[in-house]
Amino acid sequence: MLLLAGWDQNSALADAMCGSGTLPIEAAFMALHQSPQYYRETPFGFIKWKNFDAECWEKVKNRADEQRLTSLPFPIWGTDMNPRAVNAARINAMAAGLEKIVHFEKQEFEALKPPASTGTLIMNPPYDERLPLYEAEAFYQRVGDTLKKNWPGWTAWVISSNKEALKRLGLRATRRIELINGSLECSFQKFDLYAGSKYPKKEEANPEAETDTPS
Ligand SMILES: C[S@@+](CC[C@H](N)C(=O)[O-])C[C@H]1O[C@@H](n2cnc3c(N)ncnc32)[C@H](O)[C@@H]1O
Repeated sequence: MLLLAGWDQNSALADAMCGSGTLPIEAAFMALHQSPQYYRETPFGFIKWKNFDAECWEKVKNRADEQRLTSLPFPIWGTDMNPRAVNAARINAMAAGLEKIVHFEKQEFEALKPPASTGTLIMNPPYDERLPLYEAEAFYQRVGDTLKKNWPGWTAWVISSNKEALKRLGLRATRRIELINGSLECSFQKFDLYAGSKYPKKEEANPEAETDTPS
């Protein structure tokens, strides 16, 4: 999702409904140029292959060390209203050696102040498949109002399977990507957030938004 969103890996990144922290942790790996399994202690199975080249493997590991940054000049944040989710995210960040890189905090989206004046906000809100639509719609409407009020200057990406509720954000999507998440057909939508007057009326759809389906 971070790649699809076109995040440049060099600017502020926030996930304001971060759950167990998957997206901010992945973002930190990308920004630090940290190889997958960087901290793995158990040896890889391939070192037992007959043609395993130990010298080459040392070179690959050294290159990974050289490329890896140890700090970032911009924030990567994960916040969530559920304290258990935030706790799980912190544990996951620690296991990945990222506790000093990714900031996790318990916070309701509606009360959250952005960690920088500009950046990319990605959110995977509850799809509320089980809630009556009017409740899901009211929730998405609050999310949209908060985006407009508190996040001018940011680019927001929101993924949901609840396409009716997504319309209640009341924002014009400038890009839509259709995705399958598990068994659910989802839409991953981009919103460029400006201060006040640029917003169209809530009911107005944006027929010009690019829609694509990645292969
Ligand atoms: C679908 S989960 C996100 C899963 C996440 N992407 C992950 O990798 O674990 C949705 C999350 O939104 C959080 N949430 C719902 N309403 C919220 C709100 N108003 N403010 C902050 N977090 C909220 C829930 O606590 C839940 O953790």
